[in-house]
Amino acid sequence: MGQKIVPGKDEVCVEGQQVSGAEPKVYIMLNKPPGYLSSCSDPFGRPTVLYLIPQVKQRVYPVGRLDLDSEGLLLLTNDGTLAYFLTHPKYQVVKEYVVDIEGETRHDDINRLLSGIVIDGVKVYPDYARFLRSPDNIKRIVIGVHEGQKHLVKQLCFALGYDVKRLLRTKMGPLSLSGLDSGKWRYLDPKEVNALYKTALAGQEGEHNGGKPKNQISDS
Ligand code: URA
Repeated sequence: MGQKIVPGKDEVCVEGQQVSGAEPKVYIMLNKPPGYLSSCSDPFGRPTVLYLIPQVKQRVYPVGRLDLDSEGLLLLTNDGTLAYFLTHPKYQVVKEYVVDIEGETRHDDINRLLSGIVIDGVKVYPDYARFLRSPDNIKRIVIGVHEGQKHLVKQLCFALGYDVKRLLRTKMGPLSLSGLDSGKWRYLDPKEVNALYKTALAGQEGEHNGGKPKNQISDS
């Protein structure tokens, strides 16, 4: 009782059986293509994102969800604490989406979005939004949100009267998808993991603002 052990040096045995230490934490960034479920299994046998990382032996879980037809940055980890920090809105970790849309766009749409849109009876305030100029004439909007209701970004677009043609998550807090092709994945380096923790903990300090994004906090 009360005996201290040195992790990585001491062996702990119970009735002669070695008790294995905690599994090392792994952090994976995947560029999810459409057509894969953000889950670990599917009762209908549809392919999940785990099919895309067969080399990873640890049991990892997707952090938050991307719809079946959505694409882009998906983290997978066995670190439940970080997963919680990144998905609970109180930590205000912003996820950025680039959405190809169809429908009429009006110049005050961005203001309408930023003033809050009621989704399922709750007013949601995107952290930022802007239209993107695309060389191929596709209408594109960038939306940053720190909340995670199901189909949130699609619902925000629908509320403005747009049809969603493609939805790509490009950022999660300080992490960006850039350089990772669709269907590819890589391990995060320790600096990236630290940056994610730091962002979440800094977001939590702003908890007193009632979950509103920084663009909704007044000094008065
Ligand atoms: N919002 C959506 O509507 N879909 C996603 O996949 C992610 C965010």
